Amino acid sequence: MSADAKERMQESSIAIGERSSYKRTWDLLAQEPDQAALAVAGHTDEATLELTAKGFIDTLRTTTGVGPDDVVLEIGCGIARVGKPLSRECLHWFGADISGVMLSHAAERTRGLPNVTLVELATVGLQEFPRDAFDLVYCTIVFMHLFEWDRYRYVEEAFRVLRPGGRCYFDNFPLDSKHGWSVFMESARYPVERRPSHLSMSSSREELGIYLRKAGFADVQVRDLPNELIAATGRKPD
Ligand SMILES: C[S@@+](CC[C@H](N)C(=O)[O-])C[C@H]1O[C@@H](n2cnc3c(N)ncnc32)[C@H](O)[C@@H]1O
Repeated sequence: MSADAKERMQESSIAIGERSSYKRTWDLLAQEPDQAALAVAGHTDEATLELTAKGFIDTLRTTTGVGPDDVVLEIGCGIARVGKPLSRECLHWFGADISGVMLSHAAERTRGLPNVTLVELATVGLQEFPRDAFDLVYCTIVFMHLFEWDRYRYVEEAFRVLRPGGRCYFDNFPLDSKHGWSVFMESARYPVERRPSHLSMSSSREELGIYLRKAGFADVQVRDLPNELIAATGRKPD
């Protein structure tokens, strides 16, 4: 991300003492479409958004086997960077996000797509959805912005809304990679009183694995991805 883009994000952010104010934080970061794309992906041009989304869909295919019969839910879908192309490869794509402003951009980008539904979350959790509703629930580039309790809440909720046999995917960055350490050091350089509420915080492989096992998932695997993220996947037992 350019220095200019970072400065713009800093200007529209609130302090880390309010890290739990996820709705306010992300509504503010998403005021304009370009600003929202920057906050979500670090760039604004449609071709790059599509390319990075395709890369993620490949990862999802390899790790969870997402396919044409799947009803899929993304937690923290942002501007539907992934959902827009993924909706062409699954039965129905649901995008849930805590930020209504972010979802207004997603609605614009997915206008006319027949198998897309966007849902604004009232608070942390998937209370808007019934149990056993989805074949696949995934959450990418979101855990770094959440407190640990809220990460786990989404894993528990994914378990509830997945049908038996359904699969889940959650990722974050680890500290022990070149990329992870540079993100950490970038955040460490903020003066304490100017830390923004959306500042990225890492996960360990152990943490992600524990969340999935404690929530009840079977076949839990934690992988290192080529893009230096770590991803945990699991299956709700039949
Ligand atoms: C970096 S963006 C990633 C968006 C999308 N997953 C992608 O990869 O393009 C993080 C997203 O998480 C959403 N978010 C932040 N806190 C959240 C929370 N507590 N619950 C649900 N979504 C949240 C933000 O509104 C934002 O859209």
